[in-house]
Amino acid sequence: MNAPPARNDFPALRARAGRPPPVYLDSACMSLVPTAVLEAMEEYYRDFPGCAGRSLHRFSEEVSRRYEEARAAFARFLGRRDPRNIVFVRNATEALNLVAQGLAYERGDTVLVTDREHNSNLVVWHRLAAERGVRLASLALGDDGGFDGDALEEALERGIRLVSFFHTSNLDGRTLPIREITERAHDHGALVLFDGCQAAPRGAVDLDAVGVDYYAVSGHKMLGPTGTGVLAAAPGRLSELRPLLIGGETVEWSTLTGHELRPPPYRFEAGLQNYAGLLGARAAIEYLERFGRDEIAAREIDLNRRVTRALAGEPRVHVLGPADPASRPSIFAFTLDGIDPNDAAVFLDEGFRVMVRSGQHCVHSFYERHGLVGNVRASFYLYNDRTDADTLVRGIRELLDRIPPAGVTGTSAGTTAEATRAGRGPRHGAGSTGVAARSVPPRRTAARGRAGSATGSG
Ligand SMILES: Cc1ncc(COP(=O)(O)O)c(C=O)c1O
Repeated sequence: MNAPPARNDFPALRARAGRPPPVYLDSACMSLVPTAVLEAMEEYYRDFPGCAGRSLHRFSEEVSRRYEEARAAFARFLGRRDPRNIVFVRNATEALNLVAQGLAYERGDTVLVTDREHNSNLVVWHRLAAERGVRLASLALGDDGGFDGDALEEALERGIRLVSFFHTSNLDGRTLPIREITERAHDHGALVLFDGCQAAPRGAVDLDAVGVDYYAVSGHKMLGPTGTGVLAAAPGRLSELRPLLIGGETVEWSTLTGHELRPPPYRFEAGLQNYAGLLGARAAIEYLERFGRDEIAAREIDLNRRVTRALAGEPRVHVLGPADPASRPSIFAFTLDGIDPNDAAVFLDEGFRVMVRSGQHCVHSFYERHGLVGNVRASFYLYNDRTDADTLVRGIRELLDRIPPAGVTGTSAGTTAEATRAGRGPRHGAGSTGVAARSVPPRRTAARGRAGSATGSG
């Protein structure tokens, strides 16, 4: 299991300038791209840099064909039989907005979310509530990762128009039972939308078999380039949505006073598209298919188990989510008593070349409710190996050794003098230990303070 062959396929993981290779544990935010993806993107610009569906010359013909092949690759990977149910978007946020803003609502329609959604599946509903009288309800999930079907049933009985849940959580890595949720929702006449950002990279879905109405995916979390994603809809569901943008490429014809929209998916893909990115995303899918879903899951569970076991005896380490790593394969999210999460992240990077994510991972509502400042999130993917897991553990242990449990500020409000001297602003009630300020040059710390101010995407 150690030294997975995949590692060599990812140029960003190479050792450079005599330094050890980086340990990338931030794939829940954005995965790395293999050489095959870089080559597919370069091939487009080098060999046939045309636009699809417009001109009749050979570049255009070539890119049109490959554009549709990319659509077919997403359909195959996600279990949509008909590629015409795949809409290309820039990211999962756009896919979620397309459904949220595209459906027709009656005042009082209720949308049900969980109590730990990414902002991309939350704030869009706030706006609808304010502007169109849609009601927003939330379903509480237990901390152990278990799912309470009866609680969902109760909520559905009150009358729900749309259930909009994450499939796999970016907070703690748990996966919701998509089939059970879809069936229960449909039994009550509700539509289902899943935020598949974290589940799709693990190939965990057969959408048509399950009957999911709408599924949002981002390419940059599944080895693809940034600026790529899809909305994968059930047959017939796309025509119920109003496009977010219209214009070039979205109409059959137009006059000075009117137009007719093209059928889905083209009515949703306005303007010239991200061809290089989408052809890269197709190469990413083919890479994932070759690698295999079972192998991805096996690797992630092995690494997560290794880290969880190694730190199980550390009383100052608190892991978020289900106790069993197999129930949160890709994510090891934790807090360290007395140590600010952002400081921990900078320390791990500077001292151990371990890249993790710190803050609130765009799920502010969860931290707000629990009165937490944030946490650290290490996320695994197919290119990680046991050396990565062990380096993370060593880094955490050294950090704990350096900052003794007694006499530290923990999670109390305000920032320490060290952090302030290093140029950081207050971080959402964080009590910095100052460890990063001591171990990191001020210029870099200041930049990090802005970028990692307990906000951002993730
Ligand atoms: C669960 C979840 N939903 C939504 C998003 C937003 O994804 P995107 O950046 O593709 O819009 C993310 C990623 O940060 C995520 O992890």
